[in-house]
Amino acid sequence: MALHPVVYLPDSRLRAPTQAITQFDAELKTLINDMYETMYHENGIGLAAPQIGLSLKLAVIDVSEKRNEKFCIINPEILYAEGEAMPGEGCLSVPGVYDKAPRALKVKVRAQDENGNFFEREADGLLAHCFQHEIDHLNGKLFVDYLSPLKRQMARKKLEKYLRHQK
Ligand code: NI
Repeated sequence: MALHPVVYLPDSRLRAPTQAITQFDAELKTLINDMYETMYHENGIGLAAPQIGLSLKLAVIDVSEKRNEKFCIINPEILYAEGEAMPGEGCLSVPGVYDKAPRALKVKVRAQDENGNFFEREADGLLAHCFQHEIDHLNGKLFVDYLSPLKRQMARKKLEKYLRHQK
């Protein structure tokens, strides 16, 4: 297992088009395990492949309090979304920034698991928001894109400040 460095906004790899995964082999399983390890290490509830610089349709999620409910979505699509919510969100690629993003209350997602098997999962609450946030990543979109230009500018400053203090 290995930790991967997380890339931060405005890294262009966060915006690159992602490729569908077609090989469900040992290499993919190693990558998924590395992504879980990286997500737990960074205290995130989700991590999408573009966040470690890989343009692949893959994300790992764990929204449980005990950090023991691993959930992997590969080549996911949202089948339907309903209701409206404005949850507060953060992102490992935009550290130090928290703000509200418009999300559906409930979604149904179709995806493949690490063995390539298709499944459908309906979710509401935090898991539903997380699905939308991670699937946005696979489409090159970040939660700060939903903010007003002024708030986006403030977020960029907060991020720069945060990253300066990291060094
Ligand atoms: Ni994120």
